[in-house]
Amino acid sequence: MGIIAKMAAVACRGVRTVLGKSAGTSILTHQSAKFSTLRDMATARKAVLAAMGVVGGGAAGLAYALNQSVKASDLELHTAKFPWSHDGVFSSLDHASIRRGYEVYKNVCAACHSMKYIAFRNLVGVSHTEAEAKEEAMGVQIDDGPDDEGMMFKRPGKLSDYFPNPYPNDEAARSANNGALPPDLSYITSARHGGENYIFSLLTGYCDPPAGVSVREGLYYNPYFVGGAIGMAQALYNEVMEYSDGTPATASQMAKDVSVFLKWAAEPEHDDRKKMALKALMMFSMLFSITYYIKRHKWAVLKSRKIAYKPPQ
Ligand code: HEC
Repeated sequence: MGIIAKMAAVACRGVRTVLGKSAGTSILTHQSAKFSTLRDMATARKAVLAAMGVVGGGAAGLAYALNQSVKASDLELHTAKFPWSHDGVFSSLDHASIRRGYEVYKNVCAACHSMKYIAFRNLVGVSHTEAEAKEEAMGVQIDDGPDDEGMMFKRPGKLSDYFPNPYPNDEAARSANNGALPPDLSYITSARHGGENYIFSLLTGYCDPPAGVSVREGLYYNPYFVGGAIGMAQALYNEVMEYSDGTPATASQMAKDVSVFLKWAAEPEHDDRKKMALKALMMFSMLFSITYYIKRHKWAVLKSRKIAYKPPQ
C-alpha cells in the first residue's frame, strides 16, 4: 500500500495533498514535494514561462504549416486521386472504358509505345468478342519466318500474337524521339507512383512552363513528370480520333479511357481478385461463426466451473 500510494503521488503531483491525506502519512507529502520543480517558483515567473511556451509552440506550428504548404512546389506536381469507378472494394473495371481505351492506345499511343506483354487473345472476353479480337489481330503485320527459303516475311496477326512494337529496337525508338525511349506500357500503371491517376494527370497535364523555367529544344513541359521536362509531346487533343461507340472523344475522355485500359493491362486479374475477395469474406465469416460456436461449446465445462477452497478441518 505504502509504495503504491507513493508512486501515485509522484505521478500526479497536482493531487498530492489529497493523496497524502488518504495515505495518512506526513512522509508522503514531504517526499513528493521533493520531485516538484515548479513549487518554489514565483507565480509571475510561471506565467512568463507559460506564455513563452505558448508563443514558441505557436511559432513552431506556423513554421511547420508554411513548410507543408510549399512542399507541393517541389520539382514535380503530385497527382490528385481521381474517383475511378473501379475504386470500390468490390467494384470491377469499366469494360466499355477498357474497349475505348484500347482504341486510344491503338490509334494514338501505339505509334510510339509497345505493349509487348499483351496479346490479342487477352482482349477476348474483356473488351472484344473472339471474332472482333481476330479482326484486330489481322489488322497488324507481324514479322515471321524464316520460310522454306530462309527469308523472314510479314503476315497478318493471329490471336496468339503480341501487340507489335512500333520500332525494331530501342535505338530506333530513341533516335525517332530525340533520344528519349518511350517505355513499354504493359505494366506502366504498376510501375509509376499513383498508377492510373498518374497516367491521367500526365496525359492531361501539359501546359506552358512557369516564369523562369525553360525546357530544352525537343522537350515539353509537364509538371507531373519528374523534373518537369518530358520527351513526349502532348498526345491527346480533342477529336484526334473517333470512338466506335460514338462517345465524344475529348482529350480528358481519351485520357481516362486509356488509363483504365492500361490499368487492366497491368492487372488483368483485377476483377477476379475482387470477386475472390467477396467469396473469401463470405466463407470466412461462416467459418468464423462455426468456430466461435464450437469454441464456446468445448470450453463451456471449464468456463462454468467453480473453484472453491475448503480449508482443512
Ligand atoms: C510521338 C511519340 C509518342 C506518343 C504518340 C505517345 N508517347 Fe508516351 N512517351 C513518348 C516518349 C518519347 C516517352 C519518354 C519520355 C521521357 O522519358 O522523357 C514517353 C513516355 C510516356 C510515359 C512514361 C512517363 C514516365 O513517367 O516515365 C507514359 C505513361 C506514356 N508515355 C504514355 C503515353 C500514352 C498513354 C500515350 C497515348 C495516349 C502516349 N504515351 C503517346 C512518346 C510518345
